[in-house]
Amino acid sequence: MIQTVSTQPFTDQKPGTSGLRKKVRIFAQPHYAENFVQSVFDSLDGFAGQTLVVGGDGRYLNREVIQIVLKMAAANGFGRVLVGQGGILSTPAASHLIRASGAFGGLVLSASHNPGGPDEDFGIKYNIGNGGPAPEKVTDAIIERTLSIESYKILDAPDMDLDTIGTATLGGMTVDVVDPVAAYADLMESLFDFAAIRAKIAGGFTLAFDSMSAVTGPYAVEIFEKRLGAPQGTVMNGTPLPDFGHHHPDPNLVHAKQLYDRMMAPDAPDFGAASDGDGDRNLIIGRHCYVTPSDSLAVLAANAHLAPGYAAGLKGIARSMPTSGAADRVAEKLGVPLYETPTGWKFFGNLLDAGMATICGEESAGTGSDHVREKDGIWAVLLWLNILAVRGESVAAIMADHWATYGRNYYARHDYEAIAKDKADALMAALRASLDSLPGTTNSGGTIKSADDFAYTDPTDQSVSRNQGVRILFTDGSRVVFRLSGTGTEGATLRVYLERYVDTDGDLGMATGDALAPLIAAAQDVADIAGYTGMDEPSVIT
Ligand code: G6P
Ligand code: ZN
Repeated sequence: MIQTVSTQPFTDQKPGTSGLRKKVRIFAQPHYAENFVQSVFDSLDGFAGQTLVVGGDGRYLNREVIQIVLKMAAANGFGRVLVGQGGILSTPAASHLIRASGAFGGLVLSASHNPGGPDEDFGIKYNIGNGGPAPEKVTDAIIERTLSIESYKILDAPDMDLDTIGTATLGGMTVDVVDPVAAYADLMESLFDFAAIRAKIAGGFTLAFDSMSAVTGPYAVEIFEKRLGAPQGTVMNGTPLPDFGHHHPDPNLVHAKQLYDRMMAPDAPDFGAASDGDGDRNLIIGRHCYVTPSDSLAVLAANAHLAPGYAAGLKGIARSMPTSGAADRVAEKLGVPLYETPTGWKFFGNLLDAGMATICGEESAGTGSDHVREKDGIWAVLLWLNILAVRGESVAAIMADHWATYGRNYYARHDYEAIAKDKADALMAALRASLDSLPGTTNSGGTIKSADDFAYTDPTDQSVSRNQGVRILFTDGSRVVFRLSGTGTEGATLRVYLERYVDTDGDLGMATGDALAPLIAAAQDVADIAGYTGMDEPSVIT
């Protein structure tokens, strides 16, 4: 039944920040998904007879690619595949399942926060046995293999039933269709004080959770409505749809506008949150109070000890370089190390495995801990709820107290989307070429203290990652960072990260746009964004 199918390499299968992401029409080409999956398998050693976890965010093509993966896993000698019922597994739940089942690894089918549907995006990401995204040495091997592949192995067999929980066989392999939610919900219950949160909700505390018609719907209904007793309807857009109801499942102020408007209304709930396509991102909005992801990381780190799972304190905090320094001040006060990594959750895995960090976060709406090896949207919401239940204060009061204690890192990210790739590359090249001449010069942002291209040496294995983003640091601690997105599927997106720190005795109540105006002008100045992109305004501000 095992067929060996001849194929030719595709030259565009290089995984980005988080796996291989392409338009559906590219993935749907004959042999395209098969080539990538075989390239992953060919880059791994010793999986014969082992377990593979497979699941995705339910987007268009999810089921078809799962069938391909099952038949290829069987043909390549895996012993068992665990697949979420209906092909569903949120990214953090997949990470948990890989760890809990002692699997060799997993394939997570998702393009995260990118839109879904026949004309939109699909993606495949390989996670290793620790439950986290494959590190660069693995993804580099995969890329190389995609360029030399000549054949793939697949079983000639009918499609498997993905909708009935239970065990079946495919060739010599066992296929277990498992409940995608239960084990994950139990893990959450082991980390947080569900009784305290339940009591708070029973006492009239109101919340809204927007699943954005993506994978978290069933998880959120089980956890918030069933286990924590929030009324039905607390979960908005709770049914996962292959095209996310034509929405862009990215929990930011632009795409989660329905939630944002609700949280700014006079009768807003006490707490609002949203997650993305595959359930690893989070957006937190208190009643009339938006919390930036960088601030959320800092608040969660400062208060984590209030939740049972973190009562022993934190071993360390890690953040990606473009994420604001708010968490650094918390780490300093707690007396624990702070690690600054390149963008991409994969860089946190080694720190978590080595027990060097407990909590990690990124400006791109990702926060998580050592409970899994992915960021985790529902986890972040539950930690917030646990903190709110213990402190008995509003989100706005907690933010005000945080800034009064640590000072405030005013922060925003400006995205210039869908610019021509050559223009974006030219902008970055010119910026990189100017780095040596910038220190000592003055512009509207102040005097530039240093300018560099971020490089990271992993403290656990000494691997080095270069060219991770241009940093312009000013003498007053303000900062502008430039990098190109690694997750897009069309053209290029320039991200400009702006940050200004104001001490506890400074003005902590400014509008973010006002606080950052001089830095926005400085960014234009050093990078000539309008000149290269032809855009006077960013397409998205988060
Ligand atoms: C994915 C990764 C994150 C990363 C983000 C950055 O969501 O999982 O870890 O922060 O991409 O995306 P970008 O588009 O800025 O490369
Ligand atoms: Zn995601």
